[in-house]
Amino acid sequence: MKSLIITGAGSGLGKALALLYAKQGFHIILIGRTLDKLKRVEKEIRENGGSAQSFSVDVTKPDEIRPFIQDAAENFSLFGLINNAGVGHFGPFEGLTQQEIHEMLDTNVLGSIYMSQAVLPYLKDQNEGLLMNIISTAGLKGKVNESVYVASKFAVRGFTESLQKELEDTNIEVKAVYMGGMDTPFWDESDHIKDKSRLRSPEAVAEIILNSMDEDTIVIQSKGK
Ligand SMILES: NC(=O)c1ccc[n+]([C@@H]2O[C@H](COP(=O)([O-])OP(=O)(O)OC[C@H]3O[C@@H](n4cnc5c(N)ncnc54)[C@H](OP(=O)(O)O)[C@@H]3O)[C@@H](O)[C@H]2O)c1
Repeated sequence: MKSLIITGAGSGLGKALALLYAKQGFHIILIGRTLDKLKRVEKEIRENGGSAQSFSVDVTKPDEIRPFIQDAAENFSLFGLINNAGVGHFGPFEGLTQQEIHEMLDTNVLGSIYMSQAVLPYLKDQNEGLLMNIISTAGLKGKVNESVYVASKFAVRGFTESLQKELEDTNIEVKAVYMGGMDTPFWDESDHIKDKSRLRSPEAVAEIILNSMDEDTIVIQSKGK
């Protein structure tokens, strides 16, 4: 059974993608820092007849990632990676703390880079696979009160576009996904979005992504745009 690693799979878009890809017949390797959340998603997948396993891995920690991926490659038939884990801190630029700045760059940028670097050799060996980076429309244009978040997503865009070129002669598909706002726990600690109800659900966005698998660049604008 082909296995797909999804980071940040315990909530929001990661969870929605996990449920849908499991229905497509993939074994889902659910990754995040909070095992409880992942286990709940794993249970839901199994109850729907799918296959999944949960692992607590922090994508900002290369020393955790490397042995984990090595182990995963020995035990599963690794087919792909979806770099979905991400964090955001919003507000006027000068008010961001160093910790918030680090958290965004470490998770969104370095997390995607570390995970991809660990997984890619296995995909290259089999000359087949999928590498999908969940970016945001924040990776397409600057936005007020989102400066460092936008900077992190522009970085992931550059990383993804470069890998698309670097791997274009292989059978490894590299996909960049840019979506507008979604109604997920991402906004729980923030008042940056006033009315979450006007946002797309993560389930709807996951569905659009799966229906767009013939495209390398997937843009899902906010509702009403
Ligand atoms: N919501 C939106 O409006 C929106 C719009 C465009 C793009 N996005 C992007 O979509 C992606 C998914 O976000 P979401 O909206 O679904 O938010 P979410 O529900 O908060 O999901 C993010 C997940 O990432 C995990 N995570 C955070 N730091 C991690 C780390 N260091 N290692 C491993 N896992 C980590 C979190 O779980 P733990 O805390 O348990 O680790 C959480 O389950 C993010 O990349 C986000 O930037 C979101």
